[in-house]
Amino acid sequence: MQRDADRLARLLTAEQGKPLAEARGEIAYATSFLEWAAEEGKRLNGDLVPSSSPDKRILVLRQPVGIAAIITPWNFPAAMVTRKLGPALACGCTTVIKPSEETPLSALAIGELACEAGIPPGVVNIVTGDPGAIGDALFNDDRVRKLSFTGSTEVGRMLMSKASKNLLRLSLELGGHAPFIVFDDADLNLAVPAAVACKFRNAGQTCVCANRFYVQAGIADEFTARFAEAIGTLTVGNGADEGVDVGPLINDAAVEKVESHVDDAQTRGGRVIVGGHRVAVDGLADRLYAPTLVSGMTPEMLLCREETFGPVAPVAMFHDEREVIELANASEYGLAAYFFTRDASRLMRVAEALEYGIIGANDGAPSTVQAPFGGLKHSGFGREGGSYAMHEYTEIKYVSWRL
Ligand code: SIN
Repeated sequence: MQRDADRLARLLTAEQGKPLAEARGEIAYATSFLEWAAEEGKRLNGDLVPSSSPDKRILVLRQPVGIAAIITPWNFPAAMVTRKLGPALACGCTTVIKPSEETPLSALAIGELACEAGIPPGVVNIVTGDPGAIGDALFNDDRVRKLSFTGSTEVGRMLMSKASKNLLRLSLELGGHAPFIVFDDADLNLAVPAAVACKFRNAGQTCVCANRFYVQAGIADEFTARFAEAIGTLTVGNGADEGVDVGPLINDAAVEKVESHVDDAQTRGGRVIVGGHRVAVDGLADRLYAPTLVSGMTPEMLLCREETFGPVAPVAMFHDEREVIELANASEYGLAAYFFTRDASRLMRVAEALEYGIIGANDGAPSTVQAPFGGLKHSGFGREGGSYAMHEYTEIKYVSWRL
């Protein structure tokens, strides 16, 4: 993958739309999961536990869970495959990967490289096509022992019920609705670029992207003005063109959803400060939506309740810490949350109070191979990344050994 990084990045942009610079970043991110897991595979240690009977020893073994079904989304067509495949292989599992119907090509390219790298036939299997039929085959075959899925909460719930038939081990990385909080004492030189990167990466089509911005009263005007100015400098266009910051959305339904959320916000008193419209560029089938800032967000707005999965940043003002924690936690989702402050005591207090699996504290880009990526509540369960991922693909067995 490292050798072919440029080719893989171009393929990714062609099938998914994200700007080439981001696609290059995703390929590097994707390879990091394989490298990390390969190294961590050396440390799948067991335990020797003392027994209460002096003539016994207890050996704890970690063994591969078995065949792992891997179902991946279209927003990160390479990295979501390797984030699951790396630890599965390192733990000794064979895999059946079903990439999204929207973006199967990156997964197939990784499969070709797996063959070239000498991974034996039958270890990395990739099936594309009708999700219902593939799902039925996977869930009705009792050789499959594990499902790892990244995608929407709605589909995750449906897969969980199907997986109950054979009691599959599950890792579900589902939807999110991330709050992004800026306290009065925040360093805006840090918070503004982080807000832009966190919101507009992949045109807002990221489970962990900021969905709701809460800005404390004393800094609200300044933050909003600087955020609007930064958003106005983003270049929208064909992801394959150098210099583009925001590419097209994945399909027509995605653009319609973004439009309906912005319309809904306006009818409920929200004000569009920047953007709020499609952008026409030849050859992109009307899929570009301008990076948008909406002020006056209220809890009733769709923007504040549902995953918009597009380049729209709604902002609301708050007055104190307790109020904003309540607002931030008032969501069924619990994947990622962000906040900016210079106060070290508040930093720990707020990090502990937020009901989210991933917390960006003065950091708009917390995703990395070493960390345990995953959510709480309706954002799912299980962790991907670092040594935590290895637990998802191993079973624990013990041997009670009488001497
Ligand atoms: C996701 O959107 O699920 C993945 C994003 C990331 O790994 O940062």
